[in-house]
Amino acid sequence: MSEVTRRSAVTAAAAAVAGVVVGIVYGRNSDAAKAPPGAAGYGYGSGGSAGPKKLTALANVPADGGVITQGYVVVRDAGDAVHAFSSVCTHLSCDVNRVADGKIFCPCHGSVFDAQTGTVVQGPAGSPLPKLPVTVKNGDVFTA
Ligand code: FES
Repeated sequence: MSEVTRRSAVTAAAAAVAGVVVGIVYGRNSDAAKAPPGAAGYGYGSGGSAGPKKLTALANVPADGGVITQGYVVVRDAGDAVHAFSSVCTHLSCDVNRVADGKIFCPCHGSVFDAQTGTVVQGPAGSPLPKLPVTVKNGDVFTA
C-alpha cells in the first residue's frame, strides 16, 4: 500500500467513525428520542403498531384524580370519564410524577398543570401537556 493510499484509508476510516458518533449523539438528543407516546411511530394508529395497549384498569384511576403509567397521565373526572396527557413535562422533558387536587406536578422545576385541561397552572413550563387519546373498554383504559 502506498503512502497516499494508506493516508486515504485512514482519513476515510476517521470520517466513518465521526459519522457514527454524530449519528449517535443526534439520535439521543433529537425530538424523536423523547417523543411522547402516541406520537408518530408509537401507539395505535401510527402505522405498523401492534394496536391499542392497556394502560390501567379504570378502577385504579381515582375519581377526580389520576395515575401516571407508560408515559401517560390518565385522569378521571368525578364519574367514569377519562382523558389523558403525555407524562413528559413541556419544560425540559422530565416525567411528571404526581396527580393531586386537580393538578399534575413535575418534580424537576416545579411546573404544575391542570389535570382536566393540561394547561400550565405554574411555570416554568410554557405550554400545556399534550393530550393523548385513550378509550375505556370492559373496565380498562387503553391507548386509542
Ligand atoms: Fe418539568 Fe422543568 S422539566 S418543570
